Amino acid sequence: MRTLLEYLQGLATQAIASQFPVLSESEREADVAFCAQEEFGHYQCNSALRLSKLVQMNPRAVAQKIIDGLPLELQKNAASISIAGPGFINITLSSNFLSEQLQKMFIDPMLGASIPQKKQKIVVDFSAPNIAKELHVGHLRSTIIGDCLCRLFEFLGADVLRLNHLGDWGTQFGMLIAYMKQFVPAVLAGDQAADLSTLMSWYRSSKKHFDENPEFQKRAQLEVVQLQSGNPASRKIWELICNISSQGYEEIYKLLDVTLESRGESFYNPFLPGIVEELEQKGLVTVSGGAKCIFVEGFQNREGEPLPLMIQKSDGGYSYDTTDMAAMKHRIFTEKADRIIIVTDNGQSTHFAMIFAAAEKAGWLDKRRVEVDHVGFGLVLGADGKKFKTRSGDTEKLIDLLLEGIDKAREVLLEKMPGASPEEIAASAKVIGIDAIKYADLSSLRTKDYTFSYERMLRFDGNTALFLLYAYVRINGIKRKVHDSVSVLQNSRFDVQHASEISLAIHLRRFAEILQMFVRDLCPNRLADYLYVLAEKFNAFYRDCRIEGAPEQNSRLLLAELTAHVLKQGLEILGLQTVERM
Ligand code: ARG
Repeated sequence: MRTLLEYLQGLATQAIASQFPVLSESEREADVAFCAQEEFGHYQCNSALRLSKLVQMNPRAVAQKIIDGLPLELQKNAASISIAGPGFINITLSSNFLSEQLQKMFIDPMLGASIPQKKQKIVVDFSAPNIAKELHVGHLRSTIIGDCLCRLFEFLGADVLRLNHLGDWGTQFGMLIAYMKQFVPAVLAGDQAADLSTLMSWYRSSKKHFDENPEFQKRAQLEVVQLQSGNPASRKIWELICNISSQGYEEIYKLLDVTLESRGESFYNPFLPGIVEELEQKGLVTVSGGAKCIFVEGFQNREGEPLPLMIQKSDGGYSYDTTDMAAMKHRIFTEKADRIIIVTDNGQSTHFAMIFAAAEKAGWLDKRRVEVDHVGFGLVLGADGKKFKTRSGDTEKLIDLLLEGIDKAREVLLEKMPGASPEEIAASAKVIGIDAIKYADLSSLRTKDYTFSYERMLRFDGNTALFLLYAYVRINGIKRKVHDSVSVLQNSRFDVQHASEISLAIHLRRFAEILQMFVRDLCPNRLADYLYVLAEKFNAFYRDCRIEGAPEQNSRLLLAELTAHVLKQGLEILGLQTVERM
């Protein structure tokens, strides 16, 4: 299905072309936008002002000419078309037309969205913690924003590769291997198990030894060489470390309902020498201070000096930059990605801008064929406005944060649902606690910092997960009350008449339009805001329009049912689950 915006844009473009044949193809393109103020209309065409200069006519006269040129079809589908101010054309769609539109949307599994003709391959690089370190609050954003983007493209029919670009390679493994050989041989022998927290404590101790003991330091460095040259014993310990970490991460991913394919930095390791060689052959490499660098025009450090990507250090080692260059090449040529999306904090935006630019210079990336995006995000702040910390001042572990959210949700539910069984409370608390945390994050503009507050995210009013879930639960309640099943609705038709019905109708029909914007700017709060307004409009409709026993009962039930579909689908794209009662 086309969106209403596309539909109206098409008609207005036709009108302009027929009325002003002197204009070029691109000049005829109509500029239609959703009308932010409902009282003026549903959509507006803003082309008259631009065209007035081109055709040397007064803008209101241009607007009138455009209206005269609009196909008859629109005269029928619109309740009114009028000129406002200096020449805006306001279009209010008719009840009939909107009702028909909803009817079509109701039977469309895509709810009005369309799937690109060619199946898109989308690579999303997200979450990506560093092995032997626990996931902390900073990984929350990458994980849930990344997952949400995957869900968006999956809904739109793409082939999505969800990549966990784990930090599973580097000098820290030397320390850890040296430490484990010396202090925990039983674990290495397989006689004793270990979990991620234990691994982290070893990591901390190994770092201490490394800093304080030159002999240990030497051994650690030798271990790095052993590992990198493929020594089987070292490789085995490395695998053990990765496995222990992954098991720890899995618990969190499961709780967050996020799936990922592990493809860490180590995966690209075999390609690195070839990557450096190719970049050298292409003449992109400059040696600076003994290191092999790529200088990309336009990137400078704070002192105004040119900023390089360092693809080989002076000691011959490779870096984060080298791996990301290898990953770019692999994703473009082996994965044949149409779009590559990398989700990390804003701090890495320069790094990725440089990686993208260098990939273009290398002739790998042609931006007309492959779209690349670094999806940056701000910090999670505590009530004090500083980086979120635990009460003792430590970095908050993500698992503790999630479990506390579930706990707090349980308290809220116990109060709200005194009659519910402990099992139901426990199950709902898990859904609602996680939903609340995810929604608080996704509903804030991702490029900005936001303040984490359980109290605020677990409110029933305002732009919260609970507000949306409650609207969803309420609709199910209405359905239960009026009909045991909605199957009676099969032969009913939408017929929106009341102002609150029309307002809800037009908003419902915009679902696909919002997804299109979301695909463009990759900002989840677009969808969150949309759903929030949807719930508000539904509540207004429910307040103003009686359903049960009214002559309009069936049409109104349909409207409620479609709202539930869109809410559920929207929440699913955000990665939120629903409950049946609360
Ligand atoms: N492990 C990195 C970090 O924690 C994030 C990796 C992001 N992806 C990438 N291709 N560099 O900062």
